[in-house]
Amino acid sequence: MDAAQKSRSHESPRESGGALTDVADWDPYYEGLDVSRLDTLSRQPSVFDTLLSGRTGSVFELGCGGSPLLARCARAGWSVSGVDFSKPSLVCLERYLTQHQLAAGNFLCGDIFQIEPGELSESVDFLVSAGFLEHFKIQRRS
Ligand SMILES: C[S@@+](CC[C@H](N)C(=O)[O-])C[C@H]1O[C@@H](n2cnc3c(N)ncnc32)[C@H](O)[C@@H]1O
Repeated sequence: MDAAQKSRSHESPRESGGALTDVADWDPYYEGLDVSRLDTLSRQPSVFDTLLSGRTGSVFELGCGGSPLLARCARAGWSVSGVDFSKPSLVCLERYLTQHQLAAGNFLCGDIFQIEPGELSESVDFLVSAGFLEHFKIQRRS
């Protein structure tokens, strides 16, 4: 089984076509994304304003590319990190942090269902998934 077949195997919780679960679904979107859009989205009122207010710490996001939440967290002084398999999505977020003179994040480019646990060994205060988990059917093991 080659890598592509493996990533689509029944051991993975990926849905089939149309569920935006392949990197090819995401790269073109982030390649064309204006970083100012990320800024606009990250400044809209959010429940996270209350959660983040008066605190700082570290946050890790699953599917973190181009994340308005991490942009918001970074502005609030949080240390941001995450994983995403779309390189352009990470470039977009890194560009945002640089443009706004925010601390660099720690981002891993990889498929969440393929990476080894050791690659995510850091300890964090806050683990989030925004717009990632809902793309997959998670099957309970009996
Ligand atoms: C709907 S976007 C959400 C992005 C960001 N969290 C936000 O709130 O804007 C889903 C993200 O998950 C990433 N993604 C999807 N499947 C993935 C996988 N198997 N491994 C790593 N990242 C994945 C995509 O590249 C995309 O950046």
